[in-house]
Amino acid sequence: MQHLPQQEAFSYNKKVQERLSMQESVCIENAISDNILSDIRKFCIDFLKISSFDVFQDITTPRWFREGLVHQTEFVKQLSEEVIKPVLGLNDILIGDTAFCINYPPHDLHIDCRDFRVDVEGKAGIIGTKSVVVPVELDNIEYTTFYTGNQYFYGPTTRMRNGCEKLDENNETIEWQKSCGVYFSYDYAKDGMLNLDYNNPLTYDWWKENIDSEDGVPYSVFEGISIEKTHKWKPGNLIMFDSARVHWGGNLLKKGATYKMGLSLNYGHKE
Ligand SMILES: [Fe+2]
Repeated sequence: MQHLPQQEAFSYNKKVQERLSMQESVCIENAISDNILSDIRKFCIDFLKISSFDVFQDITTPRWFREGLVHQTEFVKQLSEEVIKPVLGLNDILIGDTAFCINYPPHDLHIDCRDFRVDVEGKAGIIGTKSVVVPVELDNIEYTTFYTGNQYFYGPTTRMRNGCEKLDENNETIEWQKSCGVYFSYDYAKDGMLNLDYNNPLTYDWWKENIDSEDGVPYSVFEGISIEKTHKWKPGNLIMFDSARVHWGGNLLKKGATYKMGLSLNYGHKE
């Protein structure tokens, strides 16, 4: 697939911003019944081809099982129409995204606001609006944390990596993500992130307690970032937020879990 050079892709940000509004993030507690949760769990294990969770017992090894295009399966389409959209009062169309089962590093700062007007292959006229996280399973602890920030970025899917240029050099995963159309911001102000807040920095102690991932999500990425809400990433809950709002996960290993499994879904509307 062909993708626009980063600067050109970001040049559309203002147009995307004009078409979207900023809304508060929400977390609906116990939105999904145990029966449905159990079906989603079976679906994820199958979709991710995870036959055993033993691999997570060695928590010193980073493991990311992640598969995209989950929204094209009949199971997720039905789940979205019958459970997720009614609970959240959503009318938008399902346009992505992934199932995952991971331990470390935590999901780092990013946005999922796909602007398909700049996507070269099809889907013209669809703009990403809402992202929904469906926590499915977590071991050893009741919940881990998931954060939404006050900052917005109206570009296509972008990872926020302030201060990580050196760390990201010659990294195979990052090169592969770039080839798949994921963009990287190393200078938030220059790239046009909104609501940057340098007056109330997240402290190093906060980072140490909740993230503590020098090689994956170092403290530097939080420069200018502030927390809108700290959500409970708890199986059965549903978390929904504007796709252009920066968001990230807490380090579950710090809380005593060895993995978390879930779905992440993206919605959008046609112009
Ligand atoms: Fe996301």
